Amino acid sequence: MALGLQLRRQVLAGLLLCVCVGRWAEAGKVLVVPMEGSHWLSMREVVRELHTRGHQSVVIAPEVNMHIKAEDFFTVKAYAVPYTQDKFDSLVKTHEQLLFERVHFVTMFLKTMASLKTASLLFASSCEALLYNKDLIRDLNASSFDVVLTDPVYPCGAVLAKYLSIPAVFFLRFIPCDLDAEATACPNPFSYVPRLLTKNPDHMAFFQRVKNMLYPLALKYICLVAFTPYAQMASELLQREVSLGEILASGSVWLFRRDFVMDYPRPIMPNMVFIGGINCANRKPLSQVCTAAFIQSVLPVEHILLIKDILKTFPPHCKVGPCSEMDGSNH
Ligand SMILES: *[C@@H]1O[C@H](CO)[C@@H](O)[C@H](O)[C@H]1NC(C)=O
Repeated sequence: MALGLQLRRQVLAGLLLCVCVGRWAEAGKVLVVPMEGSHWLSMREVVRELHTRGHQSVVIAPEVNMHIKAEDFFTVKAYAVPYTQDKFDSLVKTHEQLLFERVHFVTMFLKTMASLKTASLLFASSCEALLYNKDLIRDLNASSFDVVLTDPVYPCGAVLAKYLSIPAVFFLRFIPCDLDAEATACPNPFSYVPRLLTKNPDHMAFFQRVKNMLYPLALKYICLVAFTPYAQMASELLQREVSLGEILASGSVWLFRRDFVMDYPRPIMPNMVFIGGINCANRKPLSQVCTAAFIQSVLPVEHILLIKDILKTFPPHCKVGPCSEMDGSNH
């Protein structure tokens, strides 16, 4: 009887504690490490919503960037990078123009590779400027963040989360070379899951399956160029050999900006969540849509080579061109 009363009192005290600290305990400190371009535009909506719910976000951005500007619902922490705004802008412009060039597939492929390589090196140097910025790292480490929100296609945020031992939430459209499946140990059979660029359906005939196995080999080169620097930096900072797969494996939740309506169904792990609708947060009448921005935000980057095909499917009255050439373009 006495024990029962004591238990009930304990439960009551526990409940009271929950009620008292509940609201306060809900608010978290979020460290946001965004990817440039349209990637940030979707993530910004999440940061806005986090602010509405009482959480604090600090967004880390290189001083030279495209869209990451200070707003009243987050704090920006900028860091110096070893390149100028002019160099960055010209890189973006080259990449944009490439999308609309009408050249042979092989030329297109080589040019895309060269452009991706330059971009990868630039992003890696930006990451290096962040991770080796002693003052900034000390500052971030002392700020005791609860979580890192980042797009792993720019793996700097994932490396930073691991370095500072903070749980990471990944927010992504996709990551090439099936690194998501590798990191989460998700089943990813060649016979069933169509690979990037193959245009294969999920029901494949024998030769489609062969193609499904061969195509990823070409992408391996891009991943090698693009991602090796991050594994090297992580290994140096953590003072042990780590692969990018291992870094990404420490992600708590993977939020995919995709949907089984647009992509074929595939096996997923319990910590993979599909939130494709978030790309539609800012709807505008179709006449104002900048086609280039639309294609970049809706299609996975791996489809860059297919964009020319898709452009041909637009009705003839639909104006198609890089953003800068469109009137009223603000994506
Ligand atoms: C962060 O701070 C803790 C506690 O002071 C320290 O042990 C750790 O080495 C620091 N991490 C980094 C990356 O500086």
